Parts: sequence; C-alpha cells; structure tokens
Amino acid sequence: MSESMAGLKRTHYCGEITEALLGKDVVIMGWVQHRRDHGGLVFIDLRDRTGLVQTVFNPQEDPLTHEKSHGVRAEYVLALVGRVRKRPDDMVNPKLATGSVEVLIRELRVLNEAKTPPFVVEDHADATEGVRLRHRYLDLRRPSVLRNFTLRHDVAKITRDYFSGLGFLEVETPVLTKSTPEGARDYLVPSRVNRGAFFALPQSPQLFKQLLMMGGIDRYCQIVKCFRDEDLRADRQPEFTQVDLEMSFVSQEDVIEVLEGYMALVFERTLGVALERPFPRLTYDEAMSRYGTDRPDLRYDLAMVDLGHLFKDSKAQVFAEALRTGGCVRAINAPGAGAKFSRKQLDDLVALAISLGAKGLAWLRLTAEGFQGPLAKFLGEAEKAALIGALKASVGDVVFFGADAPDMVAHVLGQIRSRLAEELGLVGEGTHALSWVTDFPMFEFDPQTKRWAAKHHPFTAPRDEDLPFLASDPGRVRALAYDLVLDGSEIGGGSIRIHDPGVQALVFGALGLGPEEAREKFGFFLDALGYGTPPHGGCAFGLDRLVMILAGATSLRDVIAFPKTQKAACPLTEAPGPASDHQLLELGLRLERADGI
Ligand code: AMO
Ligand code: AMP
Repeated sequence: MSESMAGLKRTHYCGEITEALLGKDVVIMGWVQHRRDHGGLVFIDLRDRTGLVQTVFNPQEDPLTHEKSHGVRAEYVLALVGRVRKRPDDMVNPKLATGSVEVLIRELRVLNEAKTPPFVVEDHADATEGVRLRHRYLDLRRPSVLRNFTLRHDVAKITRDYFSGLGFLEVETPVLTKSTPEGARDYLVPSRVNRGAFFALPQSPQLFKQLLMMGGIDRYCQIVKCFRDEDLRADRQPEFTQVDLEMSFVSQEDVIEVLEGYMALVFERTLGVALERPFPRLTYDEAMSRYGTDRPDLRYDLAMVDLGHLFKDSKAQVFAEALRTGGCVRAINAPGAGAKFSRKQLDDLVALAISLGAKGLAWLRLTAEGFQGPLAKFLGEAEKAALIGALKASVGDVVFFGADAPDMVAHVLGQIRSRLAEELGLVGEGTHALSWVTDFPMFEFDPQTKRWAAKHHPFTAPRDEDLPFLASDPGRVRALAYDLVLDGSEIGGGSIRIHDPGVQALVFGALGLGPEEAREKFGFFLDALGYGTPPHGGCAFGLDRLVMILAGATSLRDVIAFPKTQKAACPLTEAPGPASDHQLLELGLRLERADGI
C-alpha cells in the first residue's frame, strides 16, 4: 500500500548529501537501488536523478522504522527522514560523491511499491536493447542513460543562449505541411477536412526558414523536429532534431564564422575542450581523393595517395589494367602496421575490401629486405623507390592498394582507412576532430532515373563562376554548400541559397523540373521569391548526432528519450499501430493490403 507524502517536503537530492551536511536533518525521496540486511542494521541505497546515498536503519535507535524497512524492495519509491552522519572509515566508498556519509533514518514512508523490474536498474544492465526500450522509463533511471539527457539539455541551452545572444529569433515552423525537398520519403498525414489530401511532416524547415528571411526576420534559429522515412542506421532516426538556422545578407564565410563560434562554445562548456579555430577545411574533391568520403574522420591521417603516374606501364597487371581502362590506383600507407598485423588480419582486410565490391586489396609490407606481398615480384626497383617516396613509407609499414574506377577505390579505401585506424588504435579516447567540407558539386547524376539530382537541395546557390555551366554541363557546377564533419560523422550541413528567381528556374531546369512541375511543387515558394528576397544562407545541425558524439555514445538511441528501433517502430508504445474502421471512414481511406491478403 502506498503512503502519502503529506507533511513532508524534500530538502535535498540524494547526490547532494555530503559532509557539508553532517549532523543535519534531511528529507530525501527516490527509488530503492539496494537493500542489504546485515543481521541487525539494514542499509538502503536511495537513488534519484543526482545519484545514490546510503541510508541506515538501526533496530536499537528506531525499532519500528527498522522493522518497516524489511518490506522494501528494489525500485520502491520512498520518502526518508533522517540525520546525516559520517560513515565508519572502513565503510567509505570513494567512488560515490556521497561515499563518506550516510543518513540514519527515523521515518520511512513507502510512497509507492514497484513490480520486480525486468532488469536491474544499474549502469551495467545486461538486458537487451529491446527490453530496455520497452521499459524505457526504467532504463532512464540508470545514471549513464540519465547523464546523456543532462548533456542534451545543456547543449540545447547553450544553443539557445548563443544564438539568442547574436540576435537570432526562435520562430516555430509548421509540422503539418507540404513536402520539403531533403531527398527522403515523407511521412504523410491524411486530412479529415480535406478528404483525399495529405499533409507531409517536414523533412526539415528548409522552405519555411527561407520564407522567414523573405519576411524580414533576418536571423532565425530553431530547435526543431524533422521527419524522414528512410532506411535507418545507428546514426539515423525517422524523427530527429535539428538546430536549424538561417541568416540574411551573409556570405558563406559569415555563416561559417557564426557556426565555429557555436561549436567552440559547445565543446568548451560540455567537454572543457578549447577548439582551435579556424577549423580545417577541405574541398569536396580533396576529401574524396584523400579520404574516399565527404565526411572524413580527421582524428587520424592515413590519407590516400594517387599513384596513377607510377604504374601506367607496370608489370603489376592489376594496376596497369585499371589505369588502361580509365580507373585509378591509390594507396594508403599504414605506419608500423607490419609488426602489428597478423596474416589473418591482412586476409580479413582483403575480405572486407571484396565484400565492399573491390576485386582485391593488394598490400605490400616494407621490411629491411624490401617490399613483401602478393605483387612485390612484379614491381621494378624504380617503381619501388618511387612508391616509397610517394607514400613516405618506412620499414615496418604496410601499404594497401585500390585499383579500380575512382568511385569504387574511394568507397573501398575509405572504409579500409577507418578499419586500419581502429585496428592500429589511432583514435585516442576523448579526441575529436572537426572540419568543414566545402565546394560540393551542385548535382549528382542518378543512373537509375538518368537525371541530375540536387546533392544538397534545389535551393542551394551555385558558385557565381559556375553559373554559365548550369544548362550546358551541370556536373561541373559547384555549390556554395558546406558540411561540418565531427569524427567522421556529418553533424551539420548548409548552404547559401538562391535568391534570384531566374537562377532558381535554371536550377530546376537542370534537375529536369519543368516550370509547371516546379509550380505544382513549390509554387508558393517561387511566388515569394519574386517579392524582394534578401541574399541569405544557413545551416542545420543534427542535434542528436552532436550529443551522441559528445556523450561518447555509438547510437542515436542513447540520446533520444523515446527512440524508434531499426524497424521505425516504438517498442514502448508499439506505434505505429492500426487505425480503427471509424477513423478510416472519417478520413475517407480504405486499406488495401499491399501483400494481397
Ligand atoms: P541535412 O539534410 O544535411 O540538411 O540535415 C542536417 C543535419 O541533420 C542531421 N540528420 C539526421 N540526424 C538523425 N537522423 C536522421 N535521419 C538525419 N538526417 C539528417 C545530420 C545533418 O547534417 N535543410 C537542410 C539544412 C540547410 O541547408 O540549412 C538540411 O536539412 O547531422
Ligand atoms: P590477382 O591478380 O587477382 O591474383 O591479385 C593479385 C593481388 O592484387 C591480390 O593481393 C589481390 O587482392 C590484389 N588485387 C586484385 N585486384 C585488385 C584491385 N582491383 N585493387 C587492388 N588490389 C587488387
């Protein structure tokens, strides 16, 4: 039976009970972590958001309360009244902030009982993620989980303070809206009032923030939910949060400066890390050719080196053949890997490359006797010397080669690079590397639809000097777009936008979007563009991703209170669920099972 807390007021959080309170009376409220019965004395560790404190029940001092403590079980909710005292020296727990004190209890109220939880609420819970998410309210009680939400709050607060301090206004944008162009599938919401019509949940507030600039808001920043129906991964959720911002009358440099200041503040306040500014910058082409990806992890180097010039006439057929057929040869030198990698590890790397679509992964070990490895015997002395020069290789290193079409080499060696860093232990714990990737191509060719698609989104401005190629050679046009990369993860992306209706029409044209289709999709926006649009640009950060990395977590689920699973479902509420016949009728919808049942 639960008891009332009437007449009691909490005086302290559990984690606040320290030696400063010795001899003081306190009222604490929270959950039972453990109860230990030492024959006479009973100890209960009480937990709340701030931590644990040990409480003691002594049969000599208060037999009734002591007796009552026997009925208490894990996760019961208690109110305890007692006096803080020092623990005996041999019972001090230096791992706890409250470890040198305990509270001698004289009143216990059971505010609520609890069923036996499906897992023990402690940091190293051994329950599967499915069970933890189904009972997320229990999971949230674990200190390591809770900590992530404190951090998330801190980042949100720093964000609001920082942008507000710079004159940004937080303006809310609609959730029931029209399709927005971020390239994923929309979540649709049927309209009851307008039968047969659907709202789309925003993939981002992109068009609205541009409309806010047209509305003279000048500087906007919003912490906002976005919805994208896409294939999920550890760093993608169907519902996620952006720090979304937009500024008028700015250049790319202005936006970057504001954002570097933001990141510097976040890192300083949350991790105590002073970031060096300006952040390193790479163009898209540099990132792709050196690291094989547009979101390179710069906590380590392991850059790819182009060796095309070395192997044109090589006897190593794998290389010469790739070059003859328009491909490239690139290599990564892994310093000191010779002594560290077993033959099995090398074979595993080759297997990884093949699983990624490569034809193989040639490697050469540089020993005191020269190169050793599958292709060593085909390389002439001049080639070997040039190779050592190009890669700055030393005895003890291992060189890995990719020879294929440039996209394939980038894809394969990019992944091999991350694996090498992992296996060589090159990623120091707690180290972080931020960088900008700029000069993205404006379009990418989609071989399936045989059309050009916007690499960022169709409102991104092309670089002025590339405007002449919009119609004639879209592949050549670079965009005023920039991504912020943190430890190999894209945490933010943005661009300067098109503010000239003529340029916007040219871009739609390059995307194969005729004037009618453009009007149908974005008519309201095109209208607005014609009423005096200021030059503007902005960016959006993935708040979940940023917090995940700051927290040292590996999944977005660790930093979202009620996340979705890989199957885009919520294990706690079991959403999505069926709609009733009545609801469907009202919406004018009839379900037809796509599987034909
Ligand atoms: P973009 O699509 O690059 O740009 O998104 C911005 C940032 O949002 C994060 N993000 C995600 N996080 C979790 N789960 C997802 N499914 C997910 N998708 C994206 C990433 C990404 O960098 N409107 C533009 C921004 C702009 O141009 O200003 C936009 O949404 O960290
Ligand atoms: P093969 O000629 O197929 O016996 O391959 C000789 C060596 O080159 C093996 O170590 C392969 O893993 C490697 N290899 C084969 N094709 C490629 C390629 N396209 N890129 C890099 N290495 C390759």
